[in-house]
Amino acid sequence: MSQLSTRHLLGIKDISPEDIQLIFETADNFKEVLNRPIKKVPSLRDITIANIFFENSTRTRLSFELAEKRLSADVVNFSSSTSSVKKGETLIDTVNNILSMKVDMVVMRHSSPGAPHFLARNITANIVNAGDGTHEHPTQALLDAFSIREKLGDVAGKKIAIIGDILHSRVALSNIFCLQKLGAEVMVCGPTTLIPKHTVSLGVKVEHDVEKALQWCDVANVLRIQLERQQIKYFPSLREYSLYFGINKKMLDRLDKEIVIMHPGPINRGVELNSDVADSEHSIILQQVENGVAVRMAVLYLLAGVK
Ligand code: CP
Repeated sequence: MSQLSTRHLLGIKDISPEDIQLIFETADNFKEVLNRPIKKVPSLRDITIANIFFENSTRTRLSFELAEKRLSADVVNFSSSTSSVKKGETLIDTVNNILSMKVDMVVMRHSSPGAPHFLARNITANIVNAGDGTHEHPTQALLDAFSIREKLGDVAGKKIAIIGDILHSRVALSNIFCLQKLGAEVMVCGPTTLIPKHTVSLGVKVEHDVEKALQWCDVANVLRIQLERQQIKYFPSLREYSLYFGINKKMLDRLDKEIVIMHPGPINRGVELNSDVADSEHSIILQQVENGVAVRMAVLYLLAGVK
């Protein structure tokens, strides 16, 4: 297979295991390019990509922009906080105005689940979902699985525990889809209030004891407590969350086994993850960020090739 089955990347739910393998093999090649003295290839010359972000981002936005520039695409950046959205312009008007400037691909982050799907139905450009509310964050899941594959040789057969605020996390849902498509076993762990009831129907294990989750898994993907999405209190205090669900080095030392620690960022240090874990030899957090550029190069390159 040399072409993706889709011309948009809206979610991991919509793509096949073969698509994921193709993205990984292409990312392997781009990772090699990124380690050369000249880290640039002409693959997307004459392609114009708009990064339109209606929500804050550090990693995803910089990573997409670097990926686009490494592929020699022309890049324009749009941030809703400094745009005419503030004057009441609609999403579709905003995007149509950007497209009338001959943009070929749109990378979009939006707080509303389904916003990229709406765009894909209404405009002709390729759409990449860079995170839609609490729904999906497909390139994060791809770079997470790519990083597990790099660290452990394969994703199939591995046990991955996703620990933290599952309820508000688009990373959790995309990771569950991606890891299952690649043959991993998945567990979610967190307080009852932060695990949606429908999670069991996704075929994952559910655990509320973080030490048991750590004992079970090969990889712990630790998620941020998303206070900005919480309209009510899901736990009494951050101090209590940290006491019962925060991961520290003493817990890892008690395991007496190898474990890989991941986090999509940004980290609430001292809440879900202590610095003695985030900065330890168990952590591959910065490798995840590094791999994000190669994986996003692969996604953009492959989508550009789908007619
Ligand atoms: N992991 C992630 O999506 O980080 P940003 O919100 O900084 O893009």
